[in-house]
Amino acid sequence: MRSVIVTTTLALLLASAVSLEAQDPAASAPAPETAAQHEARLAWWREARFGVFIHWGLYAIPGHGEWVQWNEQIPVEEYAKLADEFKPTQFDAVAWAATIKTAGAKYAVLTARHHDGFALFDDPQSEFTSVKAAAHHDFVADYTKAIRAAGLRVGLYYSPLDWRFPGYIMPDLQRKSAEAMRTQYHRQMEQLMTNYGKLDVIWFDGGETDWLNFGADWKGAEWKKRPREQHYSGGFSWEHNKVYAQLRRLQPQTLINGRADMPEDFRSREGDGALGGFDAEHPWELCTTIVKGAWGWQPDAEIKSLTHLVQMLVKAAGRDGNYLLNVGPRPDGTIDPAQAQRLREIGDWLRKNGGSIYGTRGGPFLPGDYGVSTHQGNTVYVHVLQWPAGPLMLPALPAKVLRVSLLDGGELSWSQGERGIELTVPAAARDAIDTIMKLEFDQPVTALKPVAVAGK
Ligand code: GLC
Repeated sequence: MRSVIVTTTLALLLASAVSLEAQDPAASAPAPETAAQHEARLAWWREARFGVFIHWGLYAIPGHGEWVQWNEQIPVEEYAKLADEFKPTQFDAVAWAATIKTAGAKYAVLTARHHDGFALFDDPQSEFTSVKAAAHHDFVADYTKAIRAAGLRVGLYYSPLDWRFPGYIMPDLQRKSAEAMRTQYHRQMEQLMTNYGKLDVIWFDGGETDWLNFGADWKGAEWKKRPREQHYSGGFSWEHNKVYAQLRRLQPQTLINGRADMPEDFRSREGDGALGGFDAEHPWELCTTIVKGAWGWQPDAEIKSLTHLVQMLVKAAGRDGNYLLNVGPRPDGTIDPAQAQRLREIGDWLRKNGGSIYGTRGGPFLPGDYGVSTHQGNTVYVHVLQWPAGPLMLPALPAKVLRVSLLDGGELSWSQGERGIELTVPAAARDAIDTIMKLEFDQPVTALKPVAVAGK
């Protein structure tokens, strides 16, 4: 009898120790990774090069983009009524996955919850979810299943910031509200990380501490934009470290971007204007919209040209980055046919030319007026987006070119000497979007130092 009591007490003690540990995620924070382990975790993402971003939520109904609530100062209760109208009768996650696949993308990222606070997943402790709204549906569940079944990698976007909480705008004056927002963030992250299987990417937005009060400070009865070098110094903390420790435990392989003050797996560049320079040191991704407009559905927004979109993908790859292209589905759940068509066209281009994008790294010829280069093994792909007046002169590399051909098999002449590699493609054999030349070297190119290409 005594031993039974002792064993039971021990078991209880042990159980409480285990649950205590579970409550304190920091207690089980994993050991830091080596650079090689990090590269291994990134391998699929590096190879993928291209993903599709999906911004979808209540904001699709007014059709003025995902910032409509803020931009048009719609009162929270007013905006919340959209949940009664949100009945996406044509929503079909399998159709989304098929469209993304035909685009040649290898991963997708869906806004599980944007700044308006409306969750597209089941959070039993919130009233503001698609499960409780008219739709009565967990869209994240369907999406994750369909994307995975299509052989694509699964990403979720999540915004810790939520406009419904005054604590976001004034984290110090409205501390309770800020803390409630934090509780929601921690809880919803746990739900997302637990209930939807393996997540390949968690794409944070609006989680930077310096984004609190939209980068301003409320001091001396004045709301002042903080200068860049001055950080938020108030008393509220997102306690991102707890989310991070839990994330690493529940989804050890997942990749996260750098928008929530956590150790990032990749950096984020946003918008056509943010393409930036070559960087093979820090993994990065450029995200842009397929339309000249917002991320969320905007019926009147003009679709960008195929040339522009393919060239963005090529320019990102040549700078050693990924490209995440956004579509904003309509309120009924479908992707606008014109946008889907553009995605298919990108896929057609990739089916012909994907060998020069997927699995490549940027360089060794640095981006310039001519275009960019990518490489894999002994092969360099030179992407000419704009021809110089004469032949294209590439600087000499400490390696020998064995063969040069046009990827599409067209006519070309080339020579190599001390000054470098000279390439000529007759006008008729050039491609209006991207003329791709394949240069085969006598050795792997990866170890060679990237070189600049003279302009014009
Ligand atoms: C911005 C916007 C947001 C969009 C995101 C995409 O941070 O706040 O609306 O989701 O960029 O990168």
